[in-house]
Amino acid sequence: MGFLFGIFILFCSLSGIFTEEPPDATIIIRGVATVAETDENFVCATIDWWPPQKCNYNQCPWGEASVLNLAGGLFGFSEGCLRMDRWDELNLLLQSTGAIVTFGLNALRGRHQTGKGIWGGAWNSTNTQRFIEYTISKGYPVDAWEFGNELSGHGIGASVGPEQYGKDLIYLKSILDDLYKESRSRPLLLAPGGFYDQQWYAKLLQVSGSNVVSALTHHVYNLGPGSDPHLTSKILDPHYLSRFADTFRGLQLTIQNHGPWASAWVGESGGAYNSGGHHVSDTFVNSFCALLWHRLMGKGVLPIDLSGSPYLRAYAQCSKQKPGISLLLINLSNSTTFSVTVQNDLNINVLTRGTLLRDGSFMHGLKRTVMWVGRKSSDGMEPREEYHLTPKDGDLHSQTMLLNGNPLELTEAGDIPPLNPVLVSVSSPVSVASLSIAFVVFPSFEARACL
Ligand SMILES: *[C@@H]1O[C@H](CO)[C@@H](O)[C@H](O)[C@H]1NC(C)=O
Ligand SMILES: *[C@@H]1O[C@H](CO)[C@@H](O)[C@H](O)[C@H]1NC(C)=O
Ligand SMILES: *[C@@H]1O[C@H](CO)[C@@H](O)[C@H](O)[C@H]1NC(C)=O
Repeated sequence: MGFLFGIFILFCSLSGIFTEEPPDATIIIRGVATVAETDENFVCATIDWWPPQKCNYNQCPWGEASVLNLAGGLFGFSEGCLRMDRWDELNLLLQSTGAIVTFGLNALRGRHQTGKGIWGGAWNSTNTQRFIEYTISKGYPVDAWEFGNELSGHGIGASVGPEQYGKDLIYLKSILDDLYKESRSRPLLLAPGGFYDQQWYAKLLQVSGSNVVSALTHHVYNLGPGSDPHLTSKILDPHYLSRFADTFRGLQLTIQNHGPWASAWVGESGGAYNSGGHHVSDTFVNSFCALLWHRLMGKGVLPIDLSGSPYLRAYAQCSKQKPGISLLLINLSNSTTFSVTVQNDLNINVLTRGTLLRDGSFMHGLKRTVMWVGRKSSDGMEPREEYHLTPKDGDLHSQTMLLNGNPLELTEAGDIPPLNPVLVSVSSPVSVASLSIAFVVFPSFEARACL
């Protein structure tokens, strides 16, 4: 009885909400179980090896941002050398920022060219071994060592066969086990930091064997070259973006079938390759605010049903270090402000006794009946926190991002500005402006998977 009464109240108090302005999109979040888990630290920044002279398409964006300053071999640059004093300086920087470090090791050392772009022969570990010994002696924390860069498949500039690569990984793993046997930390071993190639990746797992490689890393540059004049329209085309899901699925299957001990990581990704596209990669349209992701999105990934437009993309995860869930919404449409209704699958199951139709007709009726989420009456609900990110002056190619209308700029002291949300009652739909990004935190969303 009490049960039916509860639903009746909900029905009465909420009917009418949508009579004037029906929502364009409905998101149903299933909080019962996660579909995936990310690591504690999910977003990262890459410090590359490129010197100031690395130019593409008449742009030389690297300046002095390199991990070292290389002097031309591969890609037209000669051998680079990371000097110990530079490594000391870098560690000062990394430790003062609290960074968790993955360092990429040269996997070509000791090999020779056996054909055009093909390198063979065993890897010479001497230099790596000394480098790691030095790192340990200084107490520099390295969370993971990555073996090689873009040598998988046909390679970028150079390639190495997976059989040889796998053997070298087994050897490197034994070196790590030995060097770290006295320390408390056990860094992960990652490989190959290259482009996904099913046969190459599968073979690498088979040859290296169980528990040698902790994570298979791959690089993502799905927008193509930075010189493409259509970069912006690719970024805004949901169908184009979704094509890359095939690569993720492929890698996941390869790991399931050949190396279930490993996880899948994106080791490097920049959208467009060759240092990106000027006025695109360095502007709002290619951004999503990694810092807000880092602060708000927890490890548990929740399944969602999204009805509305493919131009609205949505990602739900357990909130980070607090109750409830966090949602990332990206509106790729240049003409519509979506009004998004967020629903909890729990309530829908209550109403429909477990059947959720996917043909839209049922969803339409539902929109008018359930708005929210949770057992308590809507009066007692904590407001949701909204972080809306838009470009300055509505210019997608602006280098200034606005958070809830205010420019995000470093403070006078050079610090990161406060990232404050606006609080909004949960009884209204979330409005996501065209060409904008929103993080929305629902502190009282009941998601069993997040408890
Ligand atoms: C490996 O490289 C070191 C120099 O770093 C060299 O002394 C040594 O002879 C090399 N080992 C082999 C087997 O080529
Ligand atoms: C809006 O996007 C559509 C495709 O999604 C495109 O054809 C159109 O030119 C865009 N309009 C503007 C003003 O950018
Ligand atoms: C996204 O923006 C477009 C264009 O302004 C708008 O029509 C659409 O309703 C927005 N979508 C959401 C979910 O806010």
